[in-house]
Amino acid sequence: MYLTSSEEKMLNGENGTTLQKAIEILVALGDIYGAESLIPVKNTQIAGVSYKTIGDAGLEWISDLKGKVKVPSILNPAGMDLINWQNMNIEDNFAQKQLEIIRAYEKLGICTQCTCTPYYLDNFDVKYGDHLAWSESSAVSYANSVIGARTNREGGPSALAAALVGKTANYGYHLDEYRVPNIHINVDFPINGSDYGALGYITGKIVGSGVPLFTFVSHPSNAELKALGAAMAASGAVALYHVQNVTMEAIKSQFTLPEEHINIEQQQIKDIYISETEKLEILDIITIGCPHCSFEEMQLISTLLHGKQIKKELWIYTSRHIANKYPHIIHDIEKSGAKVICDTCMVVSPATDGYNSMMVNSGKALAYVPGMCGVRTMFGNIYKCIEEALK
Ligand code: F3S
Repeated sequence: MYLTSSEEKMLNGENGTTLQKAIEILVALGDIYGAESLIPVKNTQIAGVSYKTIGDAGLEWISDLKGKVKVPSILNPAGMDLINWQNMNIEDNFAQKQLEIIRAYEKLGICTQCTCTPYYLDNFDVKYGDHLAWSESSAVSYANSVIGARTNREGGPSALAAALVGKTANYGYHLDEYRVPNIHINVDFPINGSDYGALGYITGKIVGSGVPLFTFVSHPSNAELKALGAAMAASGAVALYHVQNVTMEAIKSQFTLPEEHINIEQQQIKDIYISETEKLEILDIITIGCPHCSFEEMQLISTLLHGKQIKKELWIYTSRHIANKYPHIIHDIEKSGAKVICDTCMVVSPATDGYNSMMVNSGKALAYVPGMCGVRTMFGNIYKCIEEALK
């Protein structure tokens, strides 16, 4: 891989061991994937924040790093709400370790907002064609597919390395040839809302790490595309997809339909939803906000809960940015007894691990909660989720 003289110096340790370690990671990845050079990135999003997932070894690794990041960088959800963690059954020891992790990232100059939807932040600019180094899989999918920016699915360490160096290895989804769709997914019946999460759950298993091109009779909103991409990234490893006549890159590039073709049947979508009433008898928590809720989603939840009191636990996850910007919505939701939780989620926090069964409206949560939290998981649309919380 070609390196400039300043990159060579960094690799030789002339700028300190942190930068040396960081560029070593980027060069190793570049060599494995055949990158010709490094390219500058506009910003980074760094996973590996929850103490539940990185433990003491991760904390030690981050704490040993010195210096400051070169480009705006933001964190993925942590293991708890960083302010109201007492409100979510978090043990003291866990909280102290989690706060240490956050401080270690902060020392490196990283914005300690912890969210998988950084594209909702007013001051975290991402545009079509930008090169990024993001690591949370749903955020990667949204950046690549909905915004048309360019990022590989970075690991936590490689995103952090890119943040410190301000560059990433130029391979994969940074290059035009890897962004061409290779499988056509046709959905010839109308779908809406969480159906897109269900579709993503089904499609991810079929396409693995492919680049699907969807044709729909419905016109998905950005929130629906968010749900589709998040689920495909979890049940499969899809980091980029296109939707004919909808996503910007599909419109600009006018891709021809790939030869490999799959028709999704309506029954496949229906099968993802909860149907056995006996399962509902043991339902004890409902969670919404995977990926973190947008303002519009919070507004809908607030309307559905207006003037009502919940009977089961209802936890709603959003970014601190959204919560701070729209305090009246948070207040309205919390009047019902529901909890609005920031900085974390139902998957990366241990807070919901003790529940028996959870209802979610997210295909990604459906894919991850059973394995990562040991909680039985059911799928319902947002209306069903709220209805169950009120029963
Ligand atoms: Fe975000 Fe957690 Fe879901 S990180 S995409 S809310 S699993």
